[in-house]
Amino acid sequence: MRSVGESSDIVTKEMYRFEDKGSHDVCMRPEGTAGVVRSYINSKYDRQGTKARYYYYGQMFRYERPQKGRLRSFHQFGCESFGYGSFFEDFNIISLIAQILQELGIEATLKLNSLGCSECMGPYKNELVAFLKANREGLCKECDVRIEKNPIRVLDCKNEQCKSLLKDAPLITDRLCNSCKSDLDSLKDLLQKADISYEIDPALVRGLDYYTKSAFEFVSSQIGAQSAMAGGGRYDRLVEELGGKSTPAIGFAIGIERIMDLVYPDESALDGYYLGAMSADALERCMLLGTKLKKRAKVEISYETKGFKSHMKGVQRSKARYALFIGEDELKDDLVWIKDIKTQEQKRIKASSLL
Ligand code: HAM
Repeated sequence: MRSVGESSDIVTKEMYRFEDKGSHDVCMRPEGTAGVVRSYINSKYDRQGTKARYYYYGQMFRYERPQKGRLRSFHQFGCESFGYGSFFEDFNIISLIAQILQELGIEATLKLNSLGCSECMGPYKNELVAFLKANREGLCKECDVRIEKNPIRVLDCKNEQCKSLLKDAPLITDRLCNSCKSDLDSLKDLLQKADISYEIDPALVRGLDYYTKSAFEFVSSQIGAQSAMAGGGRYDRLVEELGGKSTPAIGFAIGIERIMDLVYPDESALDGYYLGAMSADALERCMLLGTKLKKRAKVEISYETKGFKSHMKGVQRSKARYALFIGEDELKDDLVWIKDIKTQEQKRIKASSLL
């Protein structure tokens, strides 16, 4: 609660918290950063000034309203880096995510913002609060509460009226101190030189309260309303806030379920035919037809009579380009049902025309 932020959505609404049989107050982890930071401090690495980078993969839990891409139990792959205060590390971390997504063949847009440091965020927050108070009657109920509790979260409210009102709000990117501005400019410059395209989004404030300076998300329009595949940022104050010695840190997490839909198998590798019988009588026909086909292509014939779904699993396993199924109806008229896995086209054709 201390690390993620008492007023963040994760703590106020999304914690899976309960009392166990031994009357212990238990919360299932909503994310990985807080635990890694605590472990870093417990190991006294902060006091030794240890520079270290970690990764983790695991299940996370958030009491969310489930919808596509927003699950109550999901998995994250994440990295956390300690001891590197330079913008070079911001670049290192961001380019690592870009590389992972590129290797997986996933296209994404990088949204980038700077949330400043204690020197510039404080005055900016005051200015924002003054603006919000002056426009209070136009804000939704939730944002009205946020003015006192967590004003910068108002910036990413999805309510249309709030959004239009906030068009005139002061922007953090115009209020950064010299050091934060120079770091953001240097990071932008490096990203551009590395061909990692980005959009500056001054409304990107992230759902966790621990960020300072760089905050970023990789988003895609292909995965629905929950468009963020990965998110992260710098959290230079968190080690100290959790009782350690001040240590710069930055990290990210990728949502595995959100990218899963986009990781298609390599379709160019699909090859040959899979033949399956959907009725006992059709088995022999499959065998004979498949044997003829073997002269010209890679062929796998199933010796079992199975339903459509089971055969489709066989098609997937065999990596065949074409599924050929024969059932009662096809057998009667000397037809085969054929599906091109690559184009998804499917039809019934004469067995003779297939050859
Ligand atoms: P986060 O933005 O809350 O950041 O989550 C990171 C990613 O986890 C999201 O971009 C999304 O892909 C996935 N994710 C989050 N909630 C759900 C959900 N309910 N269902 C499915 N996927 C979800 C963090 O958790 C930070 N700890 C990241 C970080 C590491 N910052 C610094 N270091």
